[in-house]
Amino acid sequence: MINTVVFQGNQVKILDQSQLPDQVVYITCKTPFEVADAIKFMKVRGAPLIGVTAAFGLAMAVNNFDGPREGLDSFFCQVKEHLASTRPTAVNLFWALARMERIYKENASLDTREIARHLADEAEKMHSEDIKTNMAIGEHGQELLGENCRVMTICNAGALATCGYGTALGVVRSAFKKGKIAKVWACETRPVLQGARLTVWELLQDNIPVTLITDSTAGYIMELGEVDAVITGADRIAANGDTANKIGTYSLAVLAAYHSIPFYVAAPLSTVDLDTASGSEIPIEKRSQDEVRQIRGLHLTVPEVRAFNPAFDVTPHKLISGIITEKGVMREPFAETLKAVVKGR
Ligand code: MRU
Repeated sequence: MINTVVFQGNQVKILDQSQLPDQVVYITCKTPFEVADAIKFMKVRGAPLIGVTAAFGLAMAVNNFDGPREGLDSFFCQVKEHLASTRPTAVNLFWALARMERIYKENASLDTREIARHLADEAEKMHSEDIKTNMAIGEHGQELLGENCRVMTICNAGALATCGYGTALGVVRSAFKKGKIAKVWACETRPVLQGARLTVWELLQDNIPVTLITDSTAGYIMELGEVDAVITGADRIAANGDTANKIGTYSLAVLAAYHSIPFYVAAPLSTVDLDTASGSEIPIEKRSQDEVRQIRGLHLTVPEVRAFNPAFDVTPHKLISGIITEKGVMREPFAETLKAVVKGR
């Protein structure tokens, strides 16, 4: 299994996803600010993975802190806020930082070294929990799929977006092991191309049959009757089930509804945000115009044209057939089923 992030106490090693599929290279972050930059500039990405990476960044910051003990509280807050400011949509980032803050507060009477040890343990725990969670998601999700299934997905909600195995692609992996996957349709996912660069790469590593399509081809393939299910990941699921995920997910959900194809979201319960009532409250990250205007520094258009580049959109819960979590598949009414499962976690 590919290691997306490795914690070494005084440094965090990150698989640089901006280089994939051309090169498999790791960058070494020696400060939490380097970790924050890696998240912001999407060298590391995917909701669960940015949460765990930020947790490692915070643990490393305390480990490397060499100031007086009385300065640790404000240093911790400053680093936590800085990591939180990197990307606004994926709630897993804030969930992971809040979990680390709880550990910090519980151990506030200890000295810096001991606090650092507790924080490192907690971040490592999140890392291993994430893999187990994804495997449970995979197991629940595969039960929804029949024989010779053709699954469409967007972006990368795979091993590369998590600590291993993946959410949407975790379902694909588990179904593949049972011989149920005939084909995965991977939408290229303009403009950052997580589908073309990452999903294709990781599925081919596991010999899972994948066919790449442009995002605008999805409707045509559904019309041909060649899609049995759409499965995507999630960056934040509001209390009513509305789901923010990669830009283009909403279009797929509308197309799936029109063609009577089940549309599933696969995500850990850490992606469910009960404090956000509905999708309209989810902050949507707007990224650089150059991501749309250029590809790898090459101009695709008139260089000065105005471009609009939201990284995510929101799929209304009414278009979602089920939310696949580690505790099973949640169905409508999501406001009730999600609340019950998150509170009982
Ligand atoms: O901008 P990205 O690449 O971080 O967006 C990732 C997605 O939209 C994923 O589908 C989502 O984070 C779930 S990953 C298991």
